Amino acid sequence: MKHLEVCLTPALLPLYDLQGSIVVVIDIFRATSSISYGIDNGAAAIIPVASVEECLSYQGNGFLLGAERNGEVVNGFDFGNSPFSYTKEKVEGKTLVVTTTNGTHAINESKNADEIVIGSFLNLTAVCDYLVKQNKNVFLLCSGWKNKVNLEDTLFAGAVVHQLKEQFDTWCDSSVLAEDLFLCAKGNLHEYMKKTSHSERLKKLGIEKDVEFCLNIDVLHSLPVIKDGRIVKSE
Ligand code: MLT
Repeated sequence: MKHLEVCLTPALLPLYDLQGSIVVVIDIFRATSSISYGIDNGAAAIIPVASVEECLSYQGNGFLLGAERNGEVVNGFDFGNSPFSYTKEKVEGKTLVVTTTNGTHAINESKNADEIVIGSFLNLTAVCDYLVKQNKNVFLLCSGWKNKVNLEDTLFAGAVVHQLKEQFDTWCDSSVLAEDLFLCAKGNLHEYMKKTSHSERLKKLGIEKDVEFCLNIDVLHSLPVIKDGRIVKSE
């Protein structure tokens, strides 16, 4: 049986052998939620880049450029990381180039994987269905906050473990920890998420509506996957 492990932050990735595996990149508040929403809304592609400078280098070629650092839009960019910047009206048919504090960093660190897919509560079941179909070892990579553990990404990883534990060996302690966290929060996710440091950070920035949006479960049925460095909708 294939195994499924939870990597609690990108800093721990060097401990894992990603060869032949699928990495699910998780950044619930907000990168992977926004990316999932943008791809479902018809964005032609989303190019994740690790630095603001690299994002800027795409200027002037018809791309939409998004940059977020510490939860805020970086000066001079079209948008940051709010899912409300990824609506159909704004992104349909467009190619976006985005850099965020944690999410695009985590994507960049996952390069040795066989496949990289984008997970969020918005497309939870689409992620799980894909992982079962692919029948490969899976790493659920929590983007965390600047390489520290965060609750929301770990909790989502626990939701995936809970849904897939019959189809995968989920024998690492981080999977058990993540699932237990999910089980303790699932009755009242919105309430529990008030404990997260990033929801507090976003609230101070007056963008708590983004937090509420990112906690919708299975409102999207598509799966963003990385092909040749670009995030596109899985066929
Ligand atoms: C990130 O990618 O670091 C987070 O999503 C930050 C944010 O969007 O506030």
